[in-house]
Amino acid sequence: MAEVDVRVLAKSDHRAAHDLARGSQHAPPVSDGEWAYAQDLHEPGLALGAYLEGELVGTSRLQRSRLALPGGATVPMAAATGKGVRADRTRRGIFTRLERECLDLAVEQGFPVVGSRVSEATIYRRFGHGVGNLSRAVRLYPREARLRPEVPCGGDVRLIGGASSAGLLPRLYERLGPYRPGVIGRSAAWWKATWEPLAKSARSPVVAVHSGPDGDDGFAVYRTMQSGDSGARVTLMVTDFHAANPEAVAGLWRFLLGVDLVEEVCARRRPTDELVEGMLDDWRACRTHSLNDDLWLRLVDLPKALDARSYGDGEPLVLEVRDELLPANTGSYRISPDGVEATSDQAQLSMGVDALAMAYLGTTSFATLAGIGGLRVIDSKAPANADRLFGASAAAFCGTTF
Ligand SMILES: CC(C)(COP(=O)(O)OP(=O)(O)OC[C@H]1O[C@@H](n2cnc3c(N)ncnc32)[C@H](O)[C@@H]1OP(=O)(O)O)[C@@H](O)C(=O)NCCC(=O)NCCS
Repeated sequence: MAEVDVRVLAKSDHRAAHDLARGSQHAPPVSDGEWAYAQDLHEPGLALGAYLEGELVGTSRLQRSRLALPGGATVPMAAATGKGVRADRTRRGIFTRLERECLDLAVEQGFPVVGSRVSEATIYRRFGHGVGNLSRAVRLYPREARLRPEVPCGGDVRLIGGASSAGLLPRLYERLGPYRPGVIGRSAAWWKATWEPLAKSARSPVVAVHSGPDGDDGFAVYRTMQSGDSGARVTLMVTDFHAANPEAVAGLWRFLLGVDLVEEVCARRRPTDELVEGMLDDWRACRTHSLNDDLWLRLVDLPKALDARSYGDGEPLVLEVRDELLPANTGSYRISPDGVEATSDQAQLSMGVDALAMAYLGTTSFATLAGIGGLRVIDSKAPANADRLFGASAAAFCGTTF
């Protein structure tokens, strides 16, 4: 096979790369109008193209974002997206080349962490990515799903129209801040590409905003779908739901379950510790439809990534990490509530960088990782201690597609 040449794309090639990635996922090329919304997602210097004999055959790119960590800090995150190889050139190592260059680019650009949403869960572990958080999809039937009187109440929910949501939602999302580990920053380009065309369309989704004593503190975006004639069954599908405190979460659920003429309410991405069942008179009126991988993480600059988060009250732990693609990360780290440092001391646990990504936000415990072959236990007391250090007070949740 001819040599694959991977290089940073010039601005003039961004649209071709965008269409190539769309084509690989069976979507048509963008129109001029769609490109006007999407083009800013292609940040100069962060989009890669793979060329075979001068022809663009694969692409991948990074977008600037930030990731909320346990303890409330955030770390720069490169959101990796737009990945695709032309269907007639797959399975000959082109993506492998792109992915290696993409991880190197992220390190060069100063991102300790790369986040992805993946089309196939079998591809990414070999490159050191791991499931950073889970989300669950739920289904409720409002006729059965009544909130218990003890559930927090008192806030107000108001609906805002499509046009005004284009300005208000980005400000509100920013205001919610890193309210949970796993939440990521949404850039102006993200809002322009993802939200503006929807908000301006004739079928713009409904936006419900919750406000509590300190002002707006949560929102839920939904569409309704009707099957059959008018008056027939209506499904309310929640597509984006973020709330900074339990009152806002409860207030938004109360509203969603109270919308008239709705037979079922579905929400595809909710935090795994949002106990909607516990808010209801009938525990079983909320059904988990599926539990899914949400944001995948690749810790590309391990010292910086480990240093960025805070740690719980545990004894110092010596953790050995292996990283075949980015060998600078391979080594042992002493992790304690006071911080992280490289060490040559005997390791207590040994693991790959992909497994560490599963524990980084507190999603998967070290005890669980030990049980599923995700790490080697050298000191039997270490998994429990590592869980005290890495545990988070809230389940990580991302809930942003990119
Ligand atoms: C996924 C995709 C980018 C892979 O590109 P590619 O050039 O064929 O990948 P490579 O040849 O470098 O293969 C890398 C490895 O992943 C494996 N792999 C690639 N695609 C796979 C798939 N869909 N399912 C399972 N394994 C896959 C390959 O077998 C190979 O394994 P190996 O290293 O053990 O040999 C490409 O098939 C594609 O564009 N798919 C459609 C769009 C898509 O899914 N994009 C990713 C969005 S997150």
